[in-house]
Amino acid sequence: MGLGLVIWTMLQVLSIHHHIALVDARPPPPLPSDRIFIASTHWNNERILRSHWNDAVVDLVKALGSENVFVSVLESGSWDDSKGALRELDTRLDRLGVRRNITLSDTTHQDEISAPPGRDGWIKTPRGQTELRRIPYLARLRNWTLQPLEDLAREGITFDKVLFLNDVVFTVDDVATLLDTNDGVYGAACSLDFSKPPLYYDTFALRDSHGDEHVMQTWPYFRSASSRRALINMEPVPVRSCWNGMVVMPAAPFISYPPLRFRAVPDSLSLSHLEGSECCLIHADNPLSQLHGVYLNPQVRVGYNSEAYAAVHPTRAWLSLQNLAVALWENRFLRWTTSSYFKMQVVRSRVMKWEKDHPQQQESGDFCLINEMQVLVANGWAHV
Ligand SMILES: *[C@@H]1O[C@H](CO)[C@@H](O)[C@H](O)[C@H]1NC(C)=O
Ligand SMILES: *[C@@H]1O[C@H](CO)[C@@H](O)[C@H](O)[C@H]1NC(C)=O
Repeated sequence: MGLGLVIWTMLQVLSIHHHIALVDARPPPPLPSDRIFIASTHWNNERILRSHWNDAVVDLVKALGSENVFVSVLESGSWDDSKGALRELDTRLDRLGVRRNITLSDTTHQDEISAPPGRDGWIKTPRGQTELRRIPYLARLRNWTLQPLEDLAREGITFDKVLFLNDVVFTVDDVATLLDTNDGVYGAACSLDFSKPPLYYDTFALRDSHGDEHVMQTWPYFRSASSRRALINMEPVPVRSCWNGMVVMPAAPFISYPPLRFRAVPDSLSLSHLEGSECCLIHADNPLSQLHGVYLNPQVRVGYNSEAYAAVHPTRAWLSLQNLAVALWENRFLRWTTSSYFKMQVVRSRVMKWEKDHPQQQESGDFCLINEMQVLVANGWAHV
């Protein structure tokens, strides 16, 4: 019995590893001739902007063709020289004749939190203050970068896809592979992001095909069978939500009526100590999520620094035979011994109570919610 298990595991691992090597050897797909609206928000990203991001954006724009791209960037209140780095990008894009809106704002977190409390996004927190929630603030910044998309549509200038870029190391091939996810049919397609590999980074926005959080922060991450199976086969992974470094979405929902926008859950719901990422809620709101699916593409892996990027390329360096064997068993063990039921029950009962108290309202993004309250503070954000 024991020996059988060992042999079975070895065969499984060898077969996965062999398949990964084949996938690694595939040439990247050609860039499609899509018109792409690139949107990005920045805060204290000077280092990566100067070392990688600006160059990667310029390479991408050249590869797509300047006339097929719009670059929308919002930076606000950085205390490093992100502004200087983005001014350099502005100059380079100008030389290439790229249409763009690079807004450098002086409004800091301190300015935001010392403004008189507004109606929306401000809540009474357990520490007895009226504070600005982090997620409505982030949603507002992200929405701002989408404004030119709407303005251009009114002039009859439209785009096929919106590409959201975090402050990550990426290549033109990464974007080509991402755009080609599921043969180009998706409500959204995301990369996988790494800051301290082998851990993936954005846990707040990733939900598997059942809407569950990961069982482990390393490969193969998922609790749901369909998400796990696709990942192991290096195929597009069906998920309810993802936002891991780079995301591409069809542009149409953003210019329909009402337009798809980033949002937070209502303040009244957040008061029951629940929070959800604007980057998860957008998938709950996007009509194309149901129609075409949301996919995480395991062939596209980006890093918040060059060491993290290097550590996950190529795939077989990242997933060695020994890693695979241990990881598959760790994942099984965790699935067999833990349940997401009790955690979800806490969320569900709070949402149900809120829906009873607010009969006009409902929250379709309940799978995004976690037992947290997040507010903006001068040097970042805090749990309260
Ligand atoms: C996002 O944008 C929409 C449409 O422009 C707007 O109605 C909404 O208030 C914005 N949400 C936030 C949180 O800023
Ligand atoms: C950039 O976009 C913002 C938001 O739509 C707008 O207010 C601003 O005028 C734009 N700037 C330029 C230079 O087009």
